[in-house]
Amino acid sequence: MAALDGKELILGVTGSIAAYKAVYLLRELTGLGARVTVCLTEHAREFVGPLTFRTLSGRPVLSNLFDPQSPDAVEHVALAERAHAVVVAPATANLLAKAAHGIADDFLTTVLLAARGQVLIAPAMDGGMWDHAAVRANVALLRERGVTVLEPEAGALASGLSGKGRLPDVEAIVEALLGVLTPQRDLAGERILVTAGPTREPIDPVRYISNRSSGKMGYGIARAALRRGADVTLVSGPTALTPPAGAVFVPVQTAEEMREAVLQHAPGASIVIKAAAVADWRPKHAANTKIKTKQDLTIELTPNPDILAEVAARRTGAFIVGFAAETNEVAANAKAKLKAKGIDVLVVNDVSQAGIGFDADDNEVLLLDRWGGEHGLPRMSKAAVADAILSHLLAVRAAVRGDRIKR
Ligand code: CTP
Repeated sequence: MAALDGKELILGVTGSIAAYKAVYLLRELTGLGARVTVCLTEHAREFVGPLTFRTLSGRPVLSNLFDPQSPDAVEHVALAERAHAVVVAPATANLLAKAAHGIADDFLTTVLLAARGQVLIAPAMDGGMWDHAAVRANVALLRERGVTVLEPEAGALASGLSGKGRLPDVEAIVEALLGVLTPQRDLAGERILVTAGPTREPIDPVRYISNRSSGKMGYGIARAALRRGADVTLVSGPTALTPPAGAVFVPVQTAEEMREAVLQHAPGASIVIKAAAVADWRPKHAANTKIKTKQDLTIELTPNPDILAEVAARRTGAFIVGFAAETNEVAANAKAKLKAKGIDVLVVNDVSQAGIGFDADDNEVLLLDRWGGEHGLPRMSKAAVADAILSHLLAVRAAVRGDRIKR
């Protein structure tokens, strides 16, 4: 079952340059099983047209209160009352002000007044607006009333300025929504060590060997585990992702550094999940100075230590989970790998398929366990796969502990 199955949501979009990101958010929410009605302000329509939202949500887009094609006043109040949550992303300073003061002069602000479910607001604004006393006061008022207002992220802004005002990542918005809607705490008390991303193996001070891993799968697992109550340590190679709030974050570059971090944090972990794509080889001798070009170059490579096999061999008592990327004879190769590495569960990606696995937003995996169990998951977003993997791990571990499957 997907995390948002059966949930009725309203996604409000306001007139910010970040409005296009609401398209990705909508895709993620529907991918998690939610039924979503999109509500655009007049200004939002200037940035992204309703057709995109209508196509992706499969529902009419609401915008003008007095539009004869929109449901009448009674119906929109009913819609707001029915919704489990109203999510506004991106929300401008203007929307925050109206929401804080109960102004209902368009469809979205009227929905916010009528809403009975959770309200989650993800602001995006320019310059120093977020720090303005008026905005601070409006945010404080909304939070006092139980509205979840996310912190914008710091970084480059559309105006060319830099500051705190960027819309939080789609993944962070989804996690926050899942947190308020489905406060599942089945991982409370667990200490989960997750590795993610690629490693970089230096050739010289400016060049390296790496791979196409984005880190999305491992970060998704870390976020889901945090939401479900676990203490999470995330050991990550270089990625473009924002570390999940609440995790102990250990950034590394090379496989050697990842090995050290993993061996340091593995004792004490109840579950170790190695989603990282560790570079299999590293240059035997990295040059101390930049190698000159215009000539052939031979780089001698040496294998990196197999961190996963090493952690498994140490028998720290943790439930050990590895990932495998396979292109051919997927099941047979994966079974051999599960055995060779001496781990409990192997999550297998068929990376020969387009649109899933490496550097993609979706994934479709097969879970093999050392007791002979095989469990396929359908193609879904990496956030949804992360939740399903964690649920499956708990089920397998409980079955082993309860002697329902033979050790
Ligand atoms: N792994 C690791 N250390 C390495 C290589 C891989 O810990 N030096 C872990 C990865 O984090 C992943 C799992 O091993 O959980 C599977 O990696 P895979 O892509 O199958 O690579 P290999 O084990 O090297 O196997 P292959 O020969 O098929 O590449």
